[in-house]
Amino acid sequence: MEDTKVKIYPSILSADFSVLGDEITAITDGCADGIHIDIMDGQFVPPITFGPMIVPFIKGRSDLPLDIHMMVINPERYFEELIEIGVDSITVHLEACKDIKKTLDHLDTFEVLKCVALNPKTSLENLLPFLKYIDRILIMSVEPGYGGQKFIPESLGKIERAKNMIRSNGGGTSIQVDGGVNLSTIKLIQDAGADIIVAGSAVFNDEDAGTNLQTLRKYAEGNKVK
Ligand code: DX5
Ligand code: ZN
Repeated sequence: MEDTKVKIYPSILSADFSVLGDEITAITDGCADGIHIDIMDGQFVPPITFGPMIVPFIKGRSDLPLDIHMMVINPERYFEELIEIGVDSITVHLEACKDIKKTLDHLDTFEVLKCVALNPKTSLENLLPFLKYIDRILIMSVEPGYGGQKFIPESLGKIERAKNMIRSNGGGTSIQVDGGVNLSTIKLIQDAGADIIVAGSAVFNDEDAGTNLQTLRKYAEGNKVK
């Protein structure tokens, strides 16, 4: 169970990898709540990003929770390696698992938050039978695979429905939203019921990542700054 204030997790997918250490320091000093790490396998989604081997370097630079978003078929292959590194949450895609209950049971053998992601076209109701085994639902608000895409507006209704579904089943599962987060969408996403908001290109662009993060937070809280 996580607390109720909205959290912002920068996604390093949009960071400048030639100075990744500095980018990690900037978001850590800018009071990020966690670091979102997108692992892609070139099969579940077309791009290949990086594998677990990059994660210890990030951990060496920051004490923030490490949040692994696995856009990978059969993600179980990498659980032990990630757990040994000391990650805090592992998100698998419902669409990428042959037997989601089995995958959740496997995750349950470790000290890690068990999270399940849904693509924009995947119905929320698919998760209902497994809700009590899931610490966090990740609602994708763009098609997975790329940073910098436009937020899919229908995601707001999906977040609200997820919130209601969780409430009427006794609570205990948090909601994370990923994709198309920027100064125009962040408050809408928070108001719809997100507990954790992932932001990639809105944090890592030509401006300072720490400053971008703080501006996003102000907009999320409804205090626009010029
Ligand atoms: C996309 C990734 C996201 C990505 C979001 O598949 O899961 O985490 O970094 O990027 P933005 O915030 O630019 O939409
Ligand atoms: Zn992601």
